[in-house]
Order: sequence, then structure tokens, then C-alpha cells
Amino acid sequence: MSLRNSHDRFGWVSITIHWLMAAAIIGIFVLGVWMVDLDYYDSWYHKSLWVHQSIGMLLLFLLVFRLVWRLTNPVPEIMGLWWEKLIAIWVHRGHYLFMFAVMVTGYLITTAYGRGVDIFGWFEFPALLAADKGRETTLGFWHMLLAWGFMGYIGMHAGAALKHHFVDRDITLLRMLGINKNRGDEK
Ligand code: HEM
Ligand code: HEM
Repeated sequence: MSLRNSHDRFGWVSITIHWLMAAAIIGIFVLGVWMVDLDYYDSWYHKSLWVHQSIGMLLLFLLVFRLVWRLTNPVPEIMGLWWEKLIAIWVHRGHYLFMFAVMVTGYLITTAYGRGVDIFGWFEFPALLAADKGRETTLGFWHMLLAWGFMGYIGMHAGAALKHHFVDRDITLLRMLGINKNRGDEK
């Protein structure tokens, strides 16, 4: 299988990024829900937020690369009826919007005091907007709301993938897993 997508298959780069980001996003969601309930004196109070922000920022960089990759590669044709294809196209676009919205709100909370984000102590990503105390409360709310909404959205997306696999019995899920197999009855 090639690195790039073709008109009917995802290449390795898209597949790896899809699953890596899916696992990391779900991971930092769980971390986020857990960390906001920690006691100030818990040894994980600061560390958990630091890990959450560091992974979140790496995901944001990866997302920029993913978008460029997506725009410069063919997109394998979506399987299903015309209206299913139309929904899938917009749901996929919605994923990108959701990812950007959750990550950017997180970034704006963190930089509300004008300080950059330290990423695993490797380097600091600067605050691009001026300090704005109070922003963290409003955006904290939006970040939480968007993160929960995103999880519901992913649940539906995963449900649709399983429906393709078990009900429609097409290769939608297999080709995103890198399994090159024809099931003979694709639509
Ligand atoms: C954070 C979690 C997830 C995100 C953000 C996400 C996002 C996306 C996006 C944007 C696409 C379009 C292809 C692309 O641009 O890369 C896609 C395709 C796909 N996703 Fe996910 N996904 C997630 C989780 C899952 C899960 C859990 C499953 C399966 C149980 C799944 C199965 C698929 C399949 C099968 C496709 C290919 C659809 C097609 O060929 O038309 N995804 N996903
Ligand atoms: C897809 C990526 C992300 C997901 C799914 C996510 C999810 C979450 C969740 C569920 C919470 C707990 C919200 C609450 O109950 O109040 C949270 C909190 C937080 N996240 Fe994220 N996050 C992501 C990315 C980021 C990024 C990139 C940053 C910053 C660089 C960030 C910074 C924060 C901060 C500062 C909090 C604490 C907010 C507060 O105490 O009100 N997050 N995140």
C-alpha cells in the first residue's frame, strides 16, 4: 500500500494519522474530565494539565499537517447511497471543525494570561493573542461543551463505520484499517 491516498483507498499516512489522532483525542478527553476534579494538593494537579496541554498542542500541529495532506491527496470515494455520501462528506468536514474548535479554545484558555504553552519542556509555543484575563472562564466553558459535543459526534461517526461494516458489508472500515480486501458486494 502506498503512502498517498488513491481514488479508492486510503494510504498509510492518512490511516496512521486517523487512528493516532482518534486514540490521542479520546485519551486527552478522559484525562481532561479526570484532571478538572483533582484536588489542588494532588501530585497530579499540575502534571495532568501539562500533559493534557502538551498532547493537545502536538495534536493541533498534526491537525494542520493532516489538513494539508487531505487537501493535496485524492479522497477515496465514499460508499453508500447519494444522500449517505453527502452526509458523510459534511460529517468529515465537521470533524475538522470540531478538532480545530476544541484545540483552539484549549490553547486560548491556556494563553489567557499572555504566557505561551510549554510542550513537554521541549519548547514553548507563544501566545498569539494579547492577555485577556477572564477569557479563560468563558472559553473554559466552551472548551468543555465542545469536547463533550465532539465525543457524541465521534460516537455517531463510529456507529456509522460499524453500520457500513456489519449491515452494508462494504469495505469502508477495512480500508481505513489498511486491510486490502474486497467484499464483493460494495455499493
Ligand atoms: C477522535 C476520533 C475520530 C475522528 C476525529 C475521526 C475523523 C475522521 C475523519 C476526518 C475522516 C475522513 C477521512 C480523513 O479526512 O481522515 C474519518 C474517516 C473514517 N473514520 Fe474516523 N474519526 C474518529 C474515530 C473513528 C472511529 C472510532 C472509527 C471506527 C470505529 C472510525 C472510522 C472511520 C472510517 C471507517 C473512516 C473512512 C470513511 C470513508 O471511507 O468514507 N473513526 N474519520
Ligand atoms: C481534542 C483535543 C482536546 C480535548 C478532547 C480536550 C478535552 C478537555 C476536557 C474534557 C476538559 C475538561 C473540561 C471540564 O470539565 O471543565 C479539558 C480541560 C482543559 N483543557 Fe482540553 N482538550 C483538548 C485540547 C486542549 C488543548 C490543545 C489545550 C491547551 C493547549 C487544552 C487545555 C485545557 C485546559 C487549560 C483545561 C482546563 C479548563 C478548566 O479548568 O476550566 N485542551 N479539556
